[in-house]
Amino acid sequence: MSAQAPVGPDTVGPPADPPAAAGDPHGLDRWRELTARHQPAWEPSALAEVEAALRVLPPLVFAGEVDLLRSRLAEAAAGRAFVLQGGDCAETFAGATADGIRARLRTILQMAVTLTYGAATPVVKIGRMAGQFAKPRSSGVETREGVTLPAYLGDAVNDYAFTPEARTVDAGRLMTTYHLSAATLNLIRAFTTGGDADLRQVHTWNRGFAASTANARYEALAREIDRAISFMAACGADFDALRTVEFYSSHEALLLPYERALTRIDSRTGLPYDVSAHMVWVGERTRGLDDAHVDLLSRVQNPIGVKLGPTTTADEALAYVEKLDPLRTPGRLTFITRMGAGRIRDALPGLVEKVTASGASVLWVCDPMHGNTISSPSGYKTRRFDDVIDEARGFFEVHRALGTVPGGLHVELTGDDVTEILGGHGKILDADLSTRYESLCDPRLNHQQALEMAFLVAEMLQG
Ligand code: PEP
Ligand code: CO
Repeated sequence: MSAQAPVGPDTVGPPADPPAAAGDPHGLDRWRELTARHQPAWEPSALAEVEAALRVLPPLVFAGEVDLLRSRLAEAAAGRAFVLQGGDCAETFAGATADGIRARLRTILQMAVTLTYGAATPVVKIGRMAGQFAKPRSSGVETREGVTLPAYLGDAVNDYAFTPEARTVDAGRLMTTYHLSAATLNLIRAFTTGGDADLRQVHTWNRGFAASTANARYEALAREIDRAISFMAACGADFDALRTVEFYSSHEALLLPYERALTRIDSRTGLPYDVSAHMVWVGERTRGLDDAHVDLLSRVQNPIGVKLGPTTTADEALAYVEKLDPLRTPGRLTFITRMGAGRIRDALPGLVEKVTASGASVLWVCDPMHGNTISSPSGYKTRRFDDVIDEARGFFEVHRALGTVPGGLHVELTGDDVTEILGGHGKILDADLSTRYESLCDPRLNHQQALEMAFLVAEMLQG
């Protein structure tokens, strides 16, 4: 999001079918007639009011930035860059503080530096940030001690507290979602372009994090980078490229009224962009080919991700290519696979082979989190660090064997010292989970585990 000139002209183009309705030339409201899974039971008049208000608010991102990200993702799909996408499972309103946002951002930047330096590869940095406030849930209700209430669907929809008032769906929360996304993005932009993310500050990003093996390893790496920079400075090199960081936002496009209200026609190209984030993705639970989510995303120009679980067939994957990337635009379509450590080596090759044989050039990204969620004996929703690493390893193995490109990593992480994922150098045990388990949804890598992962993935990237 540094001040770069937009790349253009746009090449994704509008979908060929179906015929446009009068007043909706891009078919942006077609989804309303289709099956939309995991939508909250909004109160219709309250929702209509909020949609009208959102429609006139400024865009959170610009079409030119979206186009630039698409070109970056195309580089990654071709093996000339690597994508790092990370952040909370679900952002919370309370978590949108300066300290919380900065810690998450620094963790992602530290992972990115580790990958860039370790594997000598440009890293495309994308936050699951500034919009990731809603969650699909396996059940619409939650029962505690005989009391059943609507499930918590993310701060964009209702509140986590277990009371009927808190759990009531409230369309007004979409306004807060917009404003906190704007505030988050504003801080990210300030941080990444205002000098704090200057590569010559690479040490300071580690400040404030507890001492650990991974942090010590990071310090050593930062010293090497400093030495390299001093050497280049002595040679008279120009450091403009080190001063700012390009950082993009992304979230699951789950709440369709919100995404629709933030879909705008770009004045340069006359084409629709979802300006709620640079990249949006459709989740494993809402990716029905003929359903509402895929329909709306097929009509916007943004890079689109599709989560693919272990039951995905190669024909389904090909159908997504046809529907979401009919013109085979480089960087347009990302498949985010989340198979599980035990299944990736069997489930992934068939998909990659068939998609590659079709001539499509999608970007393959590994989400090693969502296929490895377990319940610990003490009852916490958790993941084993070793399973997460093993899935990433399997992802690299499959792509290396096929001669295709392992293009990126998608992780749930936080900058804090939480205890949500078992293992890592800190050897978090089941008994430790209760010490600092803060996620309201899925367990996240803590700062140290995130850095550990970056060092391991940098080795995998080197091959
Ligand atoms: C998520 O990314 O938080 C998520 C719900 O993932 P998936 O759709 O892959 O289950
Ligand atoms: Co999650």
